[in-house]
Amino acid sequence: MELFDRLERRELEKAVLVHVDFYHESDREDLDEFYELVDSAGAEVCTLLGTKRQRPDSKYFVGKGKAGEIQQAVELHEADVVIVNHALTPAQERNLSELVQCQVLDRVGLILDIFAQRARSHEGKLQVELALLKRMSTRLVKGWTHLDRQGGIGARGPGETQLESDRRLVQGRIKSLERKIEKVRKQRGLGQEARKRTDIPVITIIGYTNAGKSTLFNQMTSAGVYAEDRLFATLDSTLRRVHLPGAGRVIFADTVGFIRHIPHDLVSAFRSTLEETREADLLVHLVDASDIHREEKIADVHEVIREVGAESVPQLMVFNKIDRLEPAVKAKVDKNNEGIPQRVWISAQSGEGIDLLLDSVASFFKGAFLTVVLTLRVDAGKKRAELYSLGTILEEGFDEAGNSLFKMSLTEQEWQSVKIWPELIEAKVLDEDSN
Ligand code: GTP
Repeated sequence: MELFDRLERRELEKAVLVHVDFYHESDREDLDEFYELVDSAGAEVCTLLGTKRQRPDSKYFVGKGKAGEIQQAVELHEADVVIVNHALTPAQERNLSELVQCQVLDRVGLILDIFAQRARSHEGKLQVELALLKRMSTRLVKGWTHLDRQGGIGARGPGETQLESDRRLVQGRIKSLERKIEKVRKQRGLGQEARKRTDIPVITIIGYTNAGKSTLFNQMTSAGVYAEDRLFATLDSTLRRVHLPGAGRVIFADTVGFIRHIPHDLVSAFRSTLEETREADLLVHLVDASDIHREEKIADVHEVIREVGAESVPQLMVFNKIDRLEPAVKAKVDKNNEGIPQRVWISAQSGEGIDLLLDSVASFFKGAFLTVVLTLRVDAGKKRAELYSLGTILEEGFDEAGNSLFKMSLTEQEWQSVKIWPELIEAKVLDEDSN
């Protein structure tokens, strides 16, 4: 889908942030979470402008004076976007945007943008596009020429100029998306079992925003367990293909971080970005152990897992940020009576316990892969290339005659098809102990 292709090509955008401290507790939004969301959306913060108000101004949401300050900040920093930590009406968004001469994004738009980046399942993408279009249809007006650009934060819908030219087109597209979603839903009901799955195990990492998912991903990269895979790297930045000693190839998948108070319109888009967790072989539930609200957040995550029908997928709880705990907790694994890991305690930032986490994950997949030794005839260059594309090569060498020796990790199915190649001089499975 064009919308999602474009996400890959965007650059970091410069953002001016606006946060209003309302006198009434119920109207307040969390500032720390705002920073996290902006970071997740991939924007670079130029400055934050704060103000206090009793209630929103009907024209600009903030007062006229503050709106002028925002305009100056945009000019000074040559910002691409103004992001407001509150829900704006279409009129407020438009007025402010006309004044500051750049795009204005409110909290709902920001969250939607993050969903658009993280949605991977077919239905998730359709839901996000639907929410984007519904939003746009209430916000389109003539004369948005200064917004005539595509693909930036909050503008990840179809080309805006085209939409402007015909609102009916948007309505038509909304209808067609709704029909498609309905169809996808029905098909899912019918063909859940028959759905084609990759035979590489998928480990999906879930957790609240700020739990440390990205840090964990990066840590895995530096720990050298992340096998750069061009295909995945370009297709989807939320997947990591990793070689786990003792288990073989697995894919780690990131998901959109949970957010408190998801705007009502976005609940179904959020759910469907998570529906693919049902397809996972293991859920790694990452928790910020130092968060005073951690128990409530864990309960929230469990609730959503149930709602999206992923409760039967095995789960491993991972408590992150142990470096911030008082009293101190060392990296460790809590196992149940059968020796199955239940909770792992780590610091994604320092890397402490990452090895324990990987071992624990690997233990879920023991037996899913075979370690095999193959001797391939010297003249079988094509087959050699095939082996490369097939599995994880653990060791490679040559014998005196120049034949290739491979130690590889293969699935049972791959092994069955490879072992009968006439180009093989020898093919055997190693015992688990000799892995
Ligand atoms: P979303 O993308 O919003 O879902 O967040 P995330 O779960 O990917 O969190 P991220 O990795 O961005 O980490 C959030 C913050 O926690 C960052 O400031 C990290 O530096 C910090 N952090 C992550 N792991 C640790 C840790 O082990 N210890 C400490 N002290 N901070 C950590």
